[in-house]
Amino acid sequence: MNAPLFPPSPVFAGTRLKQLDFANRLSVAPMTRISASATGVPGDRMRRYYERYARGGFSLITTEGIYTDKAYSQTYRNQPGLTDAEQAAAWRRVTDAVHAAGGRIFAQLMHGGALAQGNPYRPDTIGPSAIRPKGSQMTGYHGDGPYALPREISETEIAEAIEGFANAARLAMEVSGFDGIEVHGANGYLLDQFFTDFSNRRTDRWGGDIVDRLGLSLDVSKSVREAIGPGVPLGLRLSQGKVNDFRHKWAERERGAARVFEALAESSLDFVHVTEFEAWQPAFEGGDTSLVTLARRHAPKLFLIANGSLHDVARAEQVIADGADMIALGRGALVNPDWPHRMSGRGELRPFELPFLAPISDIKDSELGL
Ligand SMILES: Cc1cc2nc3c(=O)[nH]c(=O)nc-3n(C[C@H](O)[C@H](O)[C@H](O)COP(=O)(O)O)c2cc1C
Repeated sequence: MNAPLFPPSPVFAGTRLKQLDFANRLSVAPMTRISASATGVPGDRMRRYYERYARGGFSLITTEGIYTDKAYSQTYRNQPGLTDAEQAAAWRRVTDAVHAAGGRIFAQLMHGGALAQGNPYRPDTIGPSAIRPKGSQMTGYHGDGPYALPREISETEIAEAIEGFANAARLAMEVSGFDGIEVHGANGYLLDQFFTDFSNRRTDRWGGDIVDRLGLSLDVSKSVREAIGPGVPLGLRLSQGKVNDFRHKWAERERGAARVFEALAESSLDFVHVTEFEAWQPAFEGGDTSLVTLARRHAPKLFLIANGSLHDVARAEQVIADGADMIALGRGALVNPDWPHRMSGRGELRPFELPFLAPISDIKDSELGL
């Protein structure tokens, strides 16, 4: 057995978000693994998959993106949902297992919008404007070819989508036993489609400048807050890059980012989760400030989760020094579900290799020790 890291790394210092104490700053990033039933019910495989992250020492796990209604939100075939009693009760078995292993678990709620590529409830897709998404459907998630051309979502359907997030959050807290809620405002899905200049050409109150375009994320957060009450940790995930457009940058740069984080600071959110390819890098070409630093500066009281190539502990420590309260690991956690225990014992980390997920990104027997 190797000696523990000395001096102790700040990644192993405890922290607190509302009433939740965390033993370390290490969380698992949301990762879609399309391993639920055809009707969106999580089963035993998913319970085992999530439980082993808690056993491995992660103090917080954020689930994969969970769909929120039986209209347009489901994005991938075999994606789990939180839309009815059966799905909500099945999630309870997952959260019970994580809690028994000493972890906490937040539900990530997502609506795919124009990126939906496997929704059994609707044959078509919706988006802020009728603009075909860049890129092509993800083959690792049963997709093929270009994305469908979305129909412009109506005002009534926007209200229904918001209600879907609120209902899912209520089920998550009242039935499923989650510890908090993360609204997925990142990576190209519906809320990010509204936030993005390319995909949102609306001239009504949902379009306009960068803060206007953040409006749907803020309205969803407000409705979710009303549904779950003031005591439950609630956050929003934000990114520049998208699953279908890795290189996208906010055209409004640092000034726009400042306005976005100031708007979040004034909202009822408790945390913001920022994700970039490399979280420590300057956010904008020719700039010198990362999104983590910008978030810390302009929303000083928000709990800050940082994600992006932080499986190297020195990088993780760097973003904690830049102001992150918690770091989130995606690929590093996939191949090292016991990353915290390994690192505290100076164990070797396994590198991530793409074939790990191939050909379909569902949970593999090898991950569960089967
Ligand atoms: C298999 C896989 C599935 C993912 N699914 C989601 C998701 O459901 N929601 C989300 O916000 N991000 C998702 N992501 C992005 C990760 O949360 C994370 O941002 C990304 O892996 C970069 O972090 P890393 O460098 O630590 O891997 C996914 C990533 C991977 C590898």
